Amino acid sequence: MSISRRGFLSSAAVASLAASVNAQDKDKNDTARHAEPLRAAKRPIIVCANNGFPYLDNAYSLLKNGGDTLDAAMNVVQGPENDPFEDSVGLGGLPNEDGVVELDACCMHGPTRRAGSVGGVRNIKNVSLVAKAVIEHTGHVMLVGEGAERFAVAMGFPRENLLTERSRKTWQLWKEFHSTDDWWGPGMASPQWKAPDTSSNSEPWNERLQRMEKRASAIGIDPEFRMAAIHRIVFPPTGTIHCSALNEKGEMSGVTTTSGLAFKLPGRCGDSPIIGAGCYTDQDVGSAGATGAGEENIKVAGAHTIVENMRHGMSPQEAGMDALKRIVRNYNNDMARLKFLDMTYYILRKDGAYAGVSLWEGYSPTEPHKIAVHDGTRRSEKTVPLLKGASQEFPPFPTLPAGLIQESEYYK
Ligand code: GLY
Repeated sequence: MSISRRGFLSSAAVASLAASVNAQDKDKNDTARHAEPLRAAKRPIIVCANNGFPYLDNAYSLLKNGGDTLDAAMNVVQGPENDPFEDSVGLGGLPNEDGVVELDACCMHGPTRRAGSVGGVRNIKNVSLVAKAVIEHTGHVMLVGEGAERFAVAMGFPRENLLTERSRKTWQLWKEFHSTDDWWGPGMASPQWKAPDTSSNSEPWNERLQRMEKRASAIGIDPEFRMAAIHRIVFPPTGTIHCSALNEKGEMSGVTTTSGLAFKLPGRCGDSPIIGAGCYTDQDVGSAGATGAGEENIKVAGAHTIVENMRHGMSPQEAGMDALKRIVRNYNNDMARLKFLDMTYYILRKDGAYAGVSLWEGYSPTEPHKIAVHDGTRRSEKTVPLLKGASQEFPPFPTLPAGLIQESEYYK
């Protein structure tokens, strides 16, 4: 049975959420006026995507004890890179459509104003460190594909199989249900794109779910992970972790690392290895990074746009909101398309002021987007959304027992 990925994406809730961005601007400006002054800027401070939360204590100690800001940020992102159950980064990342894990990363070291990046790297787990090695051991900024892998091996990084059994089985389930037009043919940015047919009721969807559930069982996906695997097939995640760190002296660095969009075309690079999109740090101003729809972020050079906005006087939150509005503008405010996109920015200004902003409130009403912060107190905070509601809502999806799709921090 051939099922279009986009065909799954019911947009029944879109109409009710299609308030204009201008109308929402007013709300958000109100939020900005109230929320921002409450955050006292402190140094040192680390901000990151919420999947970095468990690793913040170590990194903060490192920073407090005079460690380098890039080393502290690397310390955070290596946690998810090494975690086989974090399927959006490093080891255990969900693979491309051929079943091969391809990783992207970039980093910037503020004090020395240097940058390094790697894209489409296979068989090497800690691509964030490979990006750092590009800074330290080459005169280049970006290496990709086989050349990047060979460079990593030359630098002493071990080659290893990054495809865990869990991720392989999730890919196999996707393979058995995916249609040939998932990432081929016109994308949402094309005038030829058509919104998914939402006229069907939930019956076919339930049947599909049941068939997927049966296939998942036959493939040997653990019962407790089965619905989570199906969730990833219906909505291939972009996962990713970004981290920016600022020390007491005002030095700062940033890093972003990812396995990219699950089941992507081989060779696809998202925003994460693109300096200025997935990550940007300017020692004079601040640092920013992104998780979410890489293609959209590349088009607005999100991290660079945010840092430039702060250079010209915007607060971290205003700077991030402006980048999000550029994404909205690229779709002419068309909520029927924007509904299927999401983007979160993690923003840190040189004085320690920070913000987490997102296009939507979360992946579902119970899964808000969050930013993790450590400035002496480790915490997770909800991001400030530009648009109300959750992205990618699909009402027919059954209510899951608590904890079923919580294996990855990405879903928290
Ligand atoms: N933001 C991660 C990606 O799109 O690959």
